[in-house]
Amino acid sequence: MKAKILVTRALFPEAIDRLNAAFEVDYNPEDRALPPAEIAARLAGKDGAITLLSDRIDAQTLAGAAGLKAVCNVAVGYNNYDLAAITAAGVMATNTPGVLDDTTADTAWALLLASARRIVAADRWVRNGQWQGWKFHDGWFGQDVHHATLGILGMGRIGRAVARRAGGFAMRVIYHNRQHLHPDQETECAATWVDKATLLRESDFLVLMLPYSPATHHAIGAAELAAMKPTAHLINVARGGIVDDGALIAALAERRIAGAGLDVFENEPALDPRFADLDNVVLTPHIGSSSRATRLAMAMCAIDNLVAALDGRRPPNLLNPQMLAA
Ligand code: GLV
Repeated sequence: MKAKILVTRALFPEAIDRLNAAFEVDYNPEDRALPPAEIAARLAGKDGAITLLSDRIDAQTLAGAAGLKAVCNVAVGYNNYDLAAITAAGVMATNTPGVLDDTTADTAWALLLASARRIVAADRWVRNGQWQGWKFHDGWFGQDVHHATLGILGMGRIGRAVARRAGGFAMRVIYHNRQHLHPDQETECAATWVDKATLLRESDFLVLMLPYSPATHHAIGAAELAAMKPTAHLINVARGGIVDDGALIAALAERRIAGAGLDVFENEPALDPRFADLDNVVLTPHIGSSSRATRLAMAMCAIDNLVAALDGRRPPNLLNPQMLAA
């Protein structure tokens, strides 16, 4: 008999074909998040689930899912999972690290360059017919990226992919992380560890690549923004909540920092309307990993994890290895 699984939200047809071949699939083909009560109801009697970032998985959603063995997130971040509650329920949890590093690093650079050179505001100006002819003092002076200092807060796989791209811009790269990189990795990324105060003080472009947790909540708030250069740009493709959005809006409005490129927000998808009034911020809708190839690779990675878990093997990206000892 095939194992029974839930897929909470629309995936790619080729991913669903693979799941249908292996499992009895309860599939929500709509690209809308199921309400928590519906997830809870549909998890009852299931052996596994493929979930998306928009699904909160916690003690309530797991309450009726006695036979559940694994929940497999199609994302590298898993702050939508209450990992302690999932572990307490005896369920394996997995994520999709690795496959999205380069695409997300590309997005960080897209926002960095767009913010530095005011690309979005300039595009809007041209479209609005405001361009009257070329001028030397054109009012569009941006910030040089080449030879500037790139700071990275959080130096995991994606942070390192961001750092490697800086070589082409002849940048100095500094980073802050709880742990220093292995010296070989520092050489590969041409990056130097600094304390957080130095990172804030010296970065011309500060890229956030931290996971979100209570420990990283508002890691960038009013005090950190005040410590940055007035010419600096802040880039966040990690998670909303790492930045205190209210403090950032005030710093941007008062030009205490020069600009920001944001792919993630506190309370997303709700946008603080004050962001929309600022011309020195570039806003994208949490598209860090959004190329078709990468989103498909993420779906397939989550399926690899689910297949392994339900075959009784160790899933490649197990988040709660204590489950194996249990
Ligand atoms: C996207 O935000 C992810 O965590 O994969």
